[in-house]
Amino acid sequence: MSPTNPRDTALITGASSGIGATYADRLARHGHDLVLVARDKARLEALAERLAREYEVKVDVLPADLTSTQDRARVEQRLRADVSIGMLINNAGMAGGGPLATADADLLEQMIQLNVVAPTRLTGAILPRLLARGHGSVINIASVLALAPEMFGGSYSATKAYLLNYTLALHKEASAQGVRVQAVLPGITRTEIWARSGGDINTLPAHMVMEVDEMVDAAMAGFLQGEVVTIPSLPDTADWDAYNAARLKLGPNLSRNRAADRYKSDIAEDA
Ligand SMILES: NC(=O)c1ccc[n+]([C@@H]2O[C@H](COP(=O)([O-])OP(=O)(O)OC[C@H]3O[C@@H](n4cnc5c(N)ncnc54)[C@H](OP(=O)(O)O)[C@@H]3O)[C@@H](O)[C@H]2O)c1
Repeated sequence: MSPTNPRDTALITGASSGIGATYADRLARHGHDLVLVARDKARLEALAERLAREYEVKVDVLPADLTSTQDRARVEQRLRADVSIGMLINNAGMAGGGPLATADADLLEQMIQLNVVAPTRLTGAILPRLLARGHGSVINIASVLALAPEMFGGSYSATKAYLLNYTLALHKEASAQGVRVQAVLPGITRTEIWARSGGDINTLPAHMVMEVDEMVDAAMAGFLQGEVVTIPSLPDTADWDAYNAARLKLGPNLSRNRAADRYKSDIAEDA
């Protein structure tokens, strides 16, 4: 799938189910060797065996709990040392935690470890090598909730907003040196994440739910079209462009040596 080197090995986190397993299938079909990361070793091995048999690619499994410092360090080490790996897909993630006032603090911390710390550390592990060789790619699976925290309560959307901003910063730093970066912002996608976080996807309006194959195929098409941000369900990219242009237009006024006039009168009267 990489426009620079289609034979790069891809390391995919959260590859045992859903979006990650679908990426694994598509990339293997395109001839990429794979390293599959998740906690469920048996599931990873079953997928690896099928992909190796069907597509004649090499598939390694690297079982790891990405909320664990020790396990994460093993994945970081693989990314630093294995020069065949040229593509990282930061996909593993969890939702849930519940409303902010009643959320389980330990569960929130676990979610931040998985959704924020893990992609940051794994990207940091591979990036120097990709920059040095001048090609490679990092794909971060964020969420449309990065743009719409009101649609789903709690801290989950904030972790995805981090990933979107992180990807934009990474693009600014790395694109000139040949490293392709993409943030994928899926809407509701039919995977296990809903049941895992105590939800039931079948209660959601059917017109809002995308099948996982369609979501991943669209995300990969967006990558091949050179998009930095891909929103698979958004009918018109002009809407994203307008949103982004409005954000960028704030730029010249976001840091100035004087406060805005509207904040001055009250202070002057109080003084
Ligand atoms: N489905 C949606 O509606 C939707 C929408 C927007 C964004 N996303 C994002 O898409 C990504 C993939 O989720 P999905 O929808 O495909 O859900 P999923 O089927 O539940 O997949 C999550 C994957 O992450 C792995 N994982 C979970 N906890 C882990 C841990 N502690 N360490 C390592 N791996 C772990 C799981 O494998 P193990 O259990 O084997 O570890 C699994 O492979 C997530 O980042 C999610 O936030 C999903």
